[in-house]
Amino acid sequence: MATPVMDKAQATATADYITATFRIRRFNPEESDAVIWEDFQITIDPKERVLDALHKIKWDTDGTLTFRRSCAHGICGSDAMRINGRNRLACKTLIKDINPDKPITVEPIKGLTVLKDLVVDMEPFFQAFRDVMPFLVTEGNEPTRERLQSAEDRERFDDTTKCILCAACTSSCPVFWNDGQYFGPAAIVNAHRFIFDSRDEAGEQRLEILNDKDGVWRCRTTFNCTDACPRGIEVTKAIQEVKRALITRRF
Ligand code: SF4
Ligand code: F3S
Ligand code: FES
Repeated sequence: MATPVMDKAQATATADYITATFRIRRFNPEESDAVIWEDFQITIDPKERVLDALHKIKWDTDGTLTFRRSCAHGICGSDAMRINGRNRLACKTLIKDINPDKPITVEPIKGLTVLKDLVVDMEPFFQAFRDVMPFLVTEGNEPTRERLQSAEDRERFDDTTKCILCAACTSSCPVFWNDGQYFGPAAIVNAHRFIFDSRDEAGEQRLEILNDKDGVWRCRTTFNCTDACPRGIEVTKAIQEVKRALITRRF
């Protein structure tokens, strides 16, 4: 028999539950070319996250609901989606913070081809990332110890080391929506991370790559990317710094 203490705790927890409606954009090319919006009503603690709600729907109601997730803790960057019209990580979005009194809309991020439900083709995004050479390039003899750097030099690119490649920035950029050819803010952030690293020797090369017609000059300083970044990276500022480095050739 359950103890009275347990009963009380359970009663308190259950009392916090609400009924929320999740309005999810569905697309399954194996069944139809049509996109539909489907409502799911679930009972859930509003202190849970949108990812918990999606799991609940998938596990209890519709196993075909398809979305990406891995770490569930804001690290892997795989569950960026458009929640109530704004790009967010489902695992970092609390239900109570997004007005659960109204239907909560969930749809895939924009500007990339939808493969199924909330899953998009990330390949063009990762291709732009690969194109900016997101790795340390050094010349000369192999060092016999680690390559040292002052605290000030490390600080120079600290912000852009925080990127988790979730694509929330690039897929919120109207320039990227237009034709998808623009490198996009995430690729520029990752170029910034190495251009301003005092140990790296390929800054000029990366700047030339971004001097392309689809490079940094396409940015119209819209700031959507900065607003969308779940890591709080000052994305637009990083893009501006890369533009300035292209003009002054100082980095
Ligand atoms: Fe995601 Fe921010 Fe990196 Fe863009 S800059 S990919 S929003 S973590
Ligand atoms: Fe796009 Fe961000 Fe520039 S939203 S236009 S990359 S400031
Ligand atoms: Fe990894 Fe959300 S599941 S960031």
